[in-house]
Amino acid sequence: MSSGRAPTLDVHITGDDLRRALRHDVEVGLAAEAKWLSPVWFYDARGSQLFDDITRLPEYYLTRAERRLLESHAKEIAQRSGADTLIELGAGTCDKTRVLLDAFEAQGTLRRYVPLDVSEATLAAAACDLAGEYPDLLVHAVVGDFHRHIDRMPGGGRRLVAFLGSTIGNLDLLERSRFLFDLDCTMGSDDSLLMGTDVVKDVDRLLSAYDDAAGVTAEFNRNVLQVINRELDADFEPDRFTHVVRWDAENAHMEMGLRSSVDQVVAVRALDLEVAFAAGETLRTEISAKFTREQVARELFDAGFVVDATWEDHEGFLLTLASPYC
Ligand code: AVJ
Repeated sequence: MSSGRAPTLDVHITGDDLRRALRHDVEVGLAAEAKWLSPVWFYDARGSQLFDDITRLPEYYLTRAERRLLESHAKEIAQRSGADTLIELGAGTCDKTRVLLDAFEAQGTLRRYVPLDVSEATLAAAACDLAGEYPDLLVHAVVGDFHRHIDRMPGGGRRLVAFLGSTIGNLDLLERSRFLFDLDCTMGSDDSLLMGTDVVKDVDRLLSAYDDAAGVTAEFNRNVLQVINRELDADFEPDRFTHVVRWDAENAHMEMGLRSSVDQVVAVRALDLEVAFAAGETLRTEISAKFTREQVARELFDAGFVVDATWEDHEGFLLTLASPYC
């Protein structure tokens, strides 16, 4: 059996860059009046494993809904895009990608798969697996940040940019508009964008998706404190923080945080920092925006895209195919 061509790997972010970014975020976020941390720091090896567990929870409908949509519509997506290059932003383990790759393989247009992710280890492993599974495909992995390295994507031909899993929900309105605008600027009129977004729904269903009965999401949330302990020699005691979630109706996002159960002072020794938490004070760790079809179309339009097709799952998840109107 052919093992395929060896995947290539471009590295735009190193471990040092990531550590510097973490130091910066912790310095700024923990000193803020309303404390916050970026959700990108959830995903160390344990965090990635916990997220994987989340995607299989009965309450967490997002992943299965998106997979169902991809399974039902991959053929049409491949046809409409006619792409020779599939770029996947925040590819992670490239799990759902196989559904798209299979459809493209049947169609015979795709030559190249370009997964982009910040985690070199995850990406390198996934790239190797895929290169073996799709021997005719050129796998060109890019270790980078989708905010800053969007312009380092290989050009030419017809490209389909996939941004799946509701990852865009981690950005607030302003960040989304900047990101989509930057993305639009790098795309030509033959390129298209496939985006997965979660849909506004009954608040109880949203709350349980982010606060599951088995407590996996709580563990995932608290794990970020262990990441900071390890990387920045801090002394957070995760047991002194409780997992809290709330629906912010005005901004249409779920908000996840860690609430200090006692008055405490945490030392972040690598930054020479002492952070005081009052009992009941919350450190925000994630926002997860929810959309209507109209909102997705409006945000895309404002950034220079028109919607070509949308598909909605019965559990409330949306796939949107769009293209630049320039
Ligand atoms: C990977 C960002 C899409 O927001 O639903 C899951 C992460 N957080 N449970 C999401 C997450 C809590 C997830 N995203």
